[in-house]
Amino acid sequence: MNFSIRTMTRDDISRVGEILYEGFSAVAAKYGYTSNIDSVQEGRLLAWALFHHGPCERLVAEVENRVVGTTCLSLRGDFAGLGPTAIDPSCQDKAIARELVSTVLKKAGNLQSVRTFVEAFNPAIFSLGYFTLDLIPVAESLDLFLAGGTEQSLNLCSGVDQVRREDLEEVYTYDRPRSKLNRRTDLEYFARWGKVFVYRSQSQIRGFLACLPGSRWVQLGPLLAEGEEEAEALFRHALVFFKKENFRTRVMARDISLAKALKKLGFRLYCVNILMVRGAWRPSQYIETFGYFPEGV
Ligand SMILES: CC(C)(COP(=O)(O)OP(=O)(O)OC[C@H]1O[C@@H](n2cnc3c(N)ncnc32)[C@H](O)[C@@H]1OP(=O)(O)O)[C@@H](O)C(=O)NCCC(=O)NCCS
Repeated sequence: MNFSIRTMTRDDISRVGEILYEGFSAVAAKYGYTSNIDSVQEGRLLAWALFHHGPCERLVAEVENRVVGTTCLSLRGDFAGLGPTAIDPSCQDKAIARELVSTVLKKAGNLQSVRTFVEAFNPAIFSLGYFTLDLIPVAESLDLFLAGGTEQSLNLCSGVDQVRREDLEEVYTYDRPRSKLNRRTDLEYFARWGKVFVYRSQSQIRGFLACLPGSRWVQLGPLLAEGEEEAEALFRHALVFFKKENFRTRVMARDISLAKALKKLGFRLYCVNILMVRGAWRPSQYIETFGYFPEGV
């Protein structure tokens, strides 16, 4: 099949949204999961957000002037996040994703490392990532959800505050050397469209949690904290703040105490995710949890 690759434009948002919806719902349905994108409208909202929230490389593949695939690379300082990638189900298995993702990865240049989270139930993405693109599975994360808030009676945590937009630089300064990511624009985005909570002890930051409300759930993450205690306090605070909402988050499976604490609060497992990395990677000494946007799927 002949196809061409080009940069995504504003006019592609609607079609890219359709492809994200169709691609992800088809694969989820195949393995008996509900889709993370449950309508074309939700796909279009994601495409809109991907388009407007940079810095980001966004590519589309076209067959006879019709967009049939998309991928995205979020450059974040030393590291980049790959995804989401989706191909129109009628055009899959024609090496379009391989070409599209290889092309976007060239834009990563000399970056130390590229990472992506993939659902463990999705074998296609392992073949594509592992065999074709040199992405290595390095760690498991737990994709967790909580429907309708916690049943526990919780109080707002005394050490946790909402960050004002003018104080975001302080959070950036805390985050940059620890995560090795440049998330300045992400933090601005989260503070604008959601909330950023920060945990302080004797006025020193010891962790933060970004929360992003969406049409079906509040995304909890990214989070970075000194330890599991601070991370748990941030989660509890967010649950009290957003009350009876639905929540989603991704925690590293190795952070067992945090995962158990979230289970006690009512979180359930959607699926195991695999973190795949090309280039340098070491387990962080900090607690890190991840959102879905703009981390790559
Ligand atoms: C995953 C996806 C992007 C692959 O797109 P595609 O254009 O069909 O993939 P390609 O034809 O370029 O194939 C790339 C490689 O993956 C392999 N592959 C593709 N589909 C596969 C499947 N269902 N099972 C196993 N391997 C598969 C191909 O054999 C190929 O390997 P090769 O390079 O060694 O020949 C597509 O199936 C899709 O859109 N899925 C829904 C969204 C999704 O899951 N995205 C991934 C997470 S961001």
